[in-house]
Amino acid sequence: MTDNSPVVPTRVATTRSVLMCRPEHFTVSYRINPWMNPEAPTDTSLAVQQWETLYEKYLELGYDVHLIEGVPGLPDMVYAANGGYVLDGIAYGALFEYPERQAEGPAYMEWFGAHGFDVREPTATNEGEGDMLLVGDTIYAGTGFRTDVASHDELRAIYGREVVTLHLTDPSFYHLDTAFAVLDSDGGPDSVAYLPKAFSPESLAILKERFPDAIIVNDEDAAVLGLNSFSDGRNVVIAARAVDFERQLRDRGFVPHGLDLSELLLGGGGVKCCTLELRR
Ligand code: ARG
Repeated sequence: MTDNSPVVPTRVATTRSVLMCRPEHFTVSYRINPWMNPEAPTDTSLAVQQWETLYEKYLELGYDVHLIEGVPGLPDMVYAANGGYVLDGIAYGALFEYPERQAEGPAYMEWFGAHGFDVREPTATNEGEGDMLLVGDTIYAGTGFRTDVASHDELRAIYGREVVTLHLTDPSFYHLDTAFAVLDSDGGPDSVAYLPKAFSPESLAILKERFPDAIIVNDEDAAVLGLNSFSDGRNVVIAARAVDFERQLRDRGFVPHGLDLSELLLGGGGVKCCTLELRR
């Protein structure tokens, strides 16, 4: 008898160190992405409650979780991924596209400096890890809505790594981390997931060539920001409503952990947006 069932790879978790910001000042008071509607009510205490489930999940997974104090008047500060980019102990600061978020840049840089990181002031507009994701030894960097390509050169100069520019074309997927997820930091052919329609044809060709076995996420799952997930190589924390993505993750040996961050979705962010990885 032959066994034709596919071989499910064994996935190995690597403990992560992350920075988060409790959404005590969260609300939607301006509109800088299509998800945001300042007219619709938000519930700050529900946002905090939902955020706590993410925080607790990371602790349960054994991550080293750091917290930055939220600043009144900066409702989007909960989306810590945008606060900078941290690799090799070097923190490249964020320079936000919209004035509403600009004060977050210095607040995060101050935290990085106070916690032993070598802080580099940005000269080009960039929204941190929201648009910069490390896969293997390569930094994939988004542009099109927020982050300027000039910052991709800054990344090259600071980290001395290959930086691949990806052009985002759909306003609902305005940061790279809303359309592209890193599942395994080894950088293999199946180490990422993405939403094809969020990229220009040229960028899509790059993704297909580099990640021939990537998970392709459908529109429904992308529309609940399913791709905005955080993986340690084995455990993948995702939006609970992204059911097809969850199934695909299981089929490939990952362990999905679904959470409901619906209140934070009102600001246009999910799991990954609330998470900035700190790499020493
Ligand atoms: N309201 C925020 C903005 O539009 C959401 C940021 C989401 N962050 C992310 N890493 N995708 O800037």
